[in-house]
Amino acid sequence: MTFKTAHANLRDGDLVQRNPAMVDQDLSLLLDFLRFPSVSTDPSRKGAVAECAQWLAAQIRDAGLSAEVIPTPGHPVVLARNAHVSGRPTVLIYGHYDVQPEDPVNQWDSPPFEPVVRDGVIYARGATDNKGQIFAHVRGLAATIREQGELPVNVIVLVEGEEEIGSCNLEAFLCAHRDALKCDVIAVSDTGMIAPGVPTLTYGLRGIAALEFRVKGPAVDLHSGIYGGAVRNPAVVVAQLIASLHRADGGVAVEGFYDEIQQLQEWERTAWAQLPFGDAELKAVTGVPQLAGELGYSGVERVWGRPTAEVNGFGGGFQGEGSKTVIPKEAFAKLTFRLVPNQSPSRVLELVASHLRKHCPDGVTLEILPGHVGESYVADPHAKYGLAAQKALGDAFPGKRIALIREGGSIPIINTFKRVLGVETMLLGLALPDCRAHAPNENFPVANFQAGIALNRALLKRLAVGAD
Ligand code: BES
Ligand code: MN
Repeated sequence: MTFKTAHANLRDGDLVQRNPAMVDQDLSLLLDFLRFPSVSTDPSRKGAVAECAQWLAAQIRDAGLSAEVIPTPGHPVVLARNAHVSGRPTVLIYGHYDVQPEDPVNQWDSPPFEPVVRDGVIYARGATDNKGQIFAHVRGLAATIREQGELPVNVIVLVEGEEEIGSCNLEAFLCAHRDALKCDVIAVSDTGMIAPGVPTLTYGLRGIAALEFRVKGPAVDLHSGIYGGAVRNPAVVVAQLIASLHRADGGVAVEGFYDEIQQLQEWERTAWAQLPFGDAELKAVTGVPQLAGELGYSGVERVWGRPTAEVNGFGGGFQGEGSKTVIPKEAFAKLTFRLVPNQSPSRVLELVASHLRKHCPDGVTLEILPGHVGESYVADPHAKYGLAAQKALGDAFPGKRIALIREGGSIPIINTFKRVLGVETMLLGLALPDCRAHAPNENFPVANFQAGIALNRALLKRLAVGAD
């Protein structure tokens, strides 16, 4: 595979002119960050994940904060702070340095952990999700300290290494470090912008509940001619169970699934309908011939404000080339449910388990393996910190109308922050709709990285003068 070096590919106009030398350093450091294959789910990458944490802590120290790498039962947490001054507000900046696996690696145009810049866009696993976005905060802090000698507010930086696997050890970490993490508000850049250059404040995220089920039939794989017709085929049962999850109108058929869910508010339906992002854009960015989903809702309403059942994978039986006449002894499916406010993830897992048991025919055994869960989140974008966030976005993207949205993705720790630390989160995302997070050719424009640095600086200033 061939690719050009980053600097050879940069166009003059790509860089902020104010201080080109420093901006160049910001970028080259980000490229270094992107070289660590910090894939949290892959045990063979444990060492790389740990090295990445150490590198990041050193970067934050270079920026002028004190930083440490704190072990957890899983991957370490990077925790940093400036010298706090009493009376000043405290903002906790959260992000993650772990990334999703790079598979399928042969679909990348350049190697996932050898970042390149093509036409002003950085390509690498983690470029958007979340290294580019969290590093913009780090470089924003560095620039402010360099220019002013200190930060205008108290800052805590918490960067974890397990977001992409459900933040399983972070709640215990929050409880153990409750005093050190005491803050007034949390700032996170790990969500999207609805279009390039459109400042976007996300005030809600969907929750998630994961579950895998396995269907076991005959004791061994069987000849499908000798026995087919007399025994139940586990692959057919998996297909039937998957099909049972949805109603004909596109809704989820699991009994009790919609009980007590928070309905979309009229103001948000109206506001979302006016955004420069709707069904046409959703269709274009996904490349589908037609959108589908729950009847009576627009595409963005379905994604941002309605719960879903998704099949993330299923299998069983012969997967090779050609044909094979076999009844597999077992088959499986991996499901996730995206949830909205007032849906309890653990209750949803119970409801789904009962649904699957009820619909599973005889002649097979059903094994249910509950997976990770994360709560949804919703805040008032017009409350104190929502307004401060909007002002900071206005500073970083002058003259642009701010989009107020919810997102379909999940960041499970955000609601845990509220529950354990008692504070709200401002979600100031910089990811573009075609960023290809979790997919081959993940990318992040240099301009978005620079906007993120400007946003961090604007946010701290706005918080310093009081969010009211
Ligand atoms: N940054 C994303 C979440 C996200 C993406 C929110 C786009 C809003 C818009 C995050 O890193 C992520 O991928 N989360 C996982 C969580 C899961 C693995 C528990 C998700 O949403 O699938
Ligand atoms: Mn992600």
